[in-house]
Parts: sequence; structure tokens; C-alpha cells
Amino acid sequence: MREKIIAGNWKMNTSFDEASELTGEIVRRSESIDNVSIVLFPPATHFAGISQLLSSSRIEFGAQNVHWEDAGAYTGELSTSMLIAAGCRWVIAGHSERRQYFGETDRTVNMRAAKALEAGLRPIVCIGETLEEREAGNTFEVLKRQLSTGLKSLSLKGRGGLVIAYEPIWAIGTGKTATPEQAEEAHRFIRNCILETHGKSSASETVIQYGGSVNDKNASELLSRENIDGALVGGASLNADKFMSIIQASSQQS
Ligand code: PGA
Repeated sequence: MREKIIAGNWKMNTSFDEASELTGEIVRRSESIDNVSIVLFPPATHFAGISQLLSSSRIEFGAQNVHWEDAGAYTGELSTSMLIAAGCRWVIAGHSERRQYFGETDRTVNMRAAKALEAGLRPIVCIGETLEEREAGNTFEVLKRQLSTGLKSLSLKGRGGLVIAYEPIWAIGTGKTATPEQAEEAHRFIRNCILETHGKSSASETVIQYGGSVNDKNASELLSRENIDGALVGGASLNADKFMSIIQASSQQS
């Protein structure tokens, strides 16, 4: 059976006190859940405190971005060794907000993910189409291009390795979710692409998360689909009740 992973991407939200309270609640309320991996992506300024709060828990945390060089004149960037020293086990690569506002391309996503894997960090590589691309009937073409460049030369070792998040851009932060059918169709397509490029065991073991307005109401239905192995949650991950409902929904899937 594939891993189930629920991740909370807090983006540029939370004061340190809010982040600590939220983390404490999630730790306390997820103690009895042992069949879902939980990952938090707080702002980097909170790493030290979050690391302490998570020290005796199964919950892991990571960074919302990572650079491909070891060190150097890259103002505003963080290296894998810095993140590892701060306790991170995960990074997000190629979130659509990075692509949209900060010039991230499939090639830089590939470089960031490659460096993360080399350093022993688990990358969540985000892909997804815009509304115009979907309406023009180009969704699969876009996903295929993002995968072929984004995952180029990367090893997908399945369990414990790289994770893919399918996040249709039109569903992020908009309250519009892909229907479970639309999401499952895209996830099945992504798994088939992996089958072609990386072979059978990578295809069957790679975790593919759905992201885009996942909440306490729609999580169960999305997560019940065969190829949807978890969720990358933005807005709803800032609320302990909602985030815990999503984790529970994942835990209850057989
Ligand atoms: P959202 O964000 O859940 O607020 O739509 C998802 C994401 O950006 O990963």
C-alpha cells in the first residue's frame, strides 16, 4: 500500500505564537494517528521553535523552497545544509505561487528537487494547469511537460522519496476544488507518465497529493479516490480543527 501524506503549507502566514499554538494542537490531536504522515511547512523564521515542539512527535516539517547551490551570493535563498541543520526533512519545489510570482520554471524546479534528493530531503514537486490551459483542453499536455522537465534525471524511489502534488492553479486559494473525478483523472494521467519515464515500481509507489482548496468538507471524497494519496493543504491547514479533519479523513481510508 502507498504512503498517505497530509501536508500543511502555511505560506507567508502565522506569527510565531500562532504557529506554536497551531503546532501544539496538531501534535496533541494526532497522537493516536499512526497511518498517515503529517508534514508542516511553516515560515522559515519559525523553524527553531517548531523543531522543539515536534521533537517527540512523528510529525515532520520542511521548507517552502530550497536553493540548488551549497552556498554563495544568492540573497534570500536557503541551502539544503541550512535546512537540514534547522531540522527540516522536507521541501516544496515549484509551488505555483513561486512559478507565478518569482519566475520559477520547470528547469529550476528540477534543480531544486535534485539538490533536495541528493541532500536527503524529501521534495514535494508541485505541478498543475491554469484555468485557460484547462479550458483550452491542454491540461494533460501541460502536466506532461511539467513532469518531463521537472522530474528529469531524478530517481523516484517510491516509498520515502519524492512526492508529486497535483495542484490545478485555478483551485488554489479560490475555494473552487477540482471534482474528485477531475482530480482522479489527472492523478491517473500523472501515474501513467511516471510509468513511462520511471517504470512500474516508481509508478505504483510514488505518492501523488492533491492540492487546491482542500478542506474538512471535501477531503474524504477526494482522498477516497484510488490515485489520490494525500493532500497539500494551504488555507485549511491554518485552522487546527479543519486540518485535523483532513488528517482524520485520510486516516480512515483503507
Ligand atoms: P489552498 O492552497 O488549500 O489554500 O488552496 C493549496 C496550496 O497552495 O498548496
